[in-house]
Amino acid sequence: MKAKDRPEPTLFVLFGGTGDLAWRKLVPALFDLYIDGHLPNPFGILAVGRGDFDDASLSRHYREGVDRHSRRGIARDEDWGAFAAQIHFLRGDPGSQEIYASLAEACARLDQEWQVKAQRIFYMATPPDLFGVIPKYLKEAGLAQDLERARIVVEKPIGCDLASALSLNATLGDCCQEAQIFRIDHYLGKETVQNILAFRFANPMFEPIWNRRYVDYVTITVAEAVGVAHRGGYYEKAGALRDMVQNHLMQILCLVAMEPMVSFQADEIRNKKVDVLHAIRPIPRDEVSQYAIRGQYNEGWMDGQKVPGYREEAGVGHHSQTETFVALKLLVDNWRWKDVPFYLRTGKRMPRQVSEVAIQFRAVPHQCFPAEATQDWQPSRLIMLIQPEQGIILRFQAKQPGPKMHLRTSEMRFDYSQAFANPSPDPYETLLWDVMKGDTTLFMRPDQVEAAWQVLAPILDVWSSATPNDFPNYPAGTWGPEATQGLLAKQGHRWPLPVDLAGSPDKGQP
Ligand code: BG6
Repeated sequence: MKAKDRPEPTLFVLFGGTGDLAWRKLVPALFDLYIDGHLPNPFGILAVGRGDFDDASLSRHYREGVDRHSRRGIARDEDWGAFAAQIHFLRGDPGSQEIYASLAEACARLDQEWQVKAQRIFYMATPPDLFGVIPKYLKEAGLAQDLERARIVVEKPIGCDLASALSLNATLGDCCQEAQIFRIDHYLGKETVQNILAFRFANPMFEPIWNRRYVDYVTITVAEAVGVAHRGGYYEKAGALRDMVQNHLMQILCLVAMEPMVSFQADEIRNKKVDVLHAIRPIPRDEVSQYAIRGQYNEGWMDGQKVPGYREEAGVGHHSQTETFVALKLLVDNWRWKDVPFYLRTGKRMPRQVSEVAIQFRAVPHQCFPAEATQDWQPSRLIMLIQPEQGIILRFQAKQPGPKMHLRTSEMRFDYSQAFANPSPDPYETLLWDVMKGDTTLFMRPDQVEAAWQVLAPILDVWSSATPNDFPNYPAGTWGPEATQGLLAKQGHRWPLPVDLAGSPDKGQP
């Protein structure tokens, strides 16, 4: 299958079509693509789900989701009317084989109505236990075999460990060709995550210093202010390592650490990314505590409000051992990165939402300024702001104005919102458009998913066999357990205080 510049006529079959992901993310993204003129003509949504809807009531339900979650805000009636005319509902359980004959009929009927053989995108917005079931039934119903026209989209988590990921990938591979499978990690659709490649490989001046000779260490922070909200049931089984590190943080790490690609071909980029995962030094089981720290939030204060601890959240056990915070130290054993630590951390109920990558450069090899000039001296740092602020900051030393030589940290900023007039699309817009065009560049390949599980396998093993005796170990509204500092302090490193462009006083200690 070759990626196209524009999508062909498309029927978007949405399993779990009455669920939260469809309502909050997928339909608003499709609607925004429609408004921007990116959807093919004809285009239709066929939602499959168990909810009590018909075409009209489902489109009213979707309209609420769009009004609430589209980046454009409330939809205009005439726009919505034209879009909603192509929303169809098929009631049934995607986990039961019976529905697939009706699905095949509905697909054929629309082809006939449209007078075209539309491509069909089967999107599994369902609980993960159906990811291995739906593709089998699609295959049995003869809906999966058309290499050019049938595509299957699977959301993370791809398995819950290496063995289950291998098994799911094998099932998917039995049902269709790899080129038809799109494994979504929505972080890859974020503009600022894609910009890591642009920044590194479209500007020759950074490449010569992007290595162990100049970089001391790298930190990747993905902090969320929210707790688990209504997702306690899912999260209890996942935890932060599976929910965030295995996919989102590993993807960012790959983009920061990968070698330059030779071309912009999907597999070329994905090869370079998987090379990084293969180069990560395996963590010995008896040393896991020196590489990985887990935490769980307790009750605490956020924005002047008291918030409950994780164990008090809906769907969470009173003695839950699930981690809501992870900090890791990883080493990438190759010529570029040997002995440069990559520190990753993610957690819920941190003081604020902030995702950023900080490249901490080494100190100058010889300090030639007088001691009094360098009292506030800090090595240079490059910070890639992923969200909510989007941009890049370079912190460096500059001479403070005055008769004496005194150095102070200064910075240069690139801010997306000021640099570009057009707003950033939601990641799902980008990714859904790519699925429609058949472009797999921003999707996870099975070997990459498996390599990421392989890296985490020792931690998962050790953590599942030894219950943490200090949970909950960080109050909501702080930057995680104290032990996190020790992970870096041994090498004389420290977590940077995450950037706050809004300039509000930082809450809590990093
Ligand atoms: C999801 C996780 O993949 O990413 C959630 O399951 C998390 O737990 C979310 O909240 C974060 O995404 P974003 O785009 O808000 O950073």
